[in-house]
Amino acid sequence: MTLSTSSLPQNAVATGPAGRAMAQPMDAGLLEGLQEHLGLERKASAAYWAMALWFAERELRGFAAHLMQESRGEQHHAGLVADYLIARGQTVDLGALPAPGQQWSDAEAVLADAFRLEADVTTSLQLLYSMAERAGDVRSTVFLDPLIQGQIAAENEAAHLLGRVRFGRLEAASMLLIDGELTAAQQPAAALA
Ligand SMILES: [Fe+2]
Repeated sequence: MTLSTSSLPQNAVATGPAGRAMAQPMDAGLLEGLQEHLGLERKASAAYWAMALWFAERELRGFAAHLMQESRGEQHHAGLVADYLIARGQTVDLGALPAPGQQWSDAEAVLADAFRLEADVTTSLQLLYSMAERAGDVRSTVFLDPLIQGQIAAENEAAHLLGRVRFGRLEAASMLLIDGELTAAQQPAAALA
């Protein structure tokens, strides 16, 4: 269909549900997927916080600080999705969050959960990516690219930490060593604050 732009009023632009100017409407399935993904990032943030508290309660402050940083990272990702939805003229739907799990048998079980969490987030992003491609929504694939790249790094880090803890067989000396390393890794970030 060809529509001469000269026949439109000069200030006419398409608007989204929030009333903001919208360059390209968003596919309904993709929009729903992005809203769900935002919820998943928020859930991941709460889950990491619960994990951080579990370690803090057991005097492992390096693990706790590392997992708190992950929790903040997930909240940041949720914020990026929210900002993107607004940039696309959509409204952000913040639903209720379930309580995170807080019962683990040992540190290995906590970190196995963290690894699965990262893998789930990556799967969700991959699904969104293929939906965006099917919908011909290049803006969304460009938005998702760095998030997926970040997930590959996050999975790698989670696997490394789980592997280190398994290698040390949860023995006190090895746990304290890893805890010290995680504390040292936090210091540059803390010094900047
Ligand atoms: Fe995330």
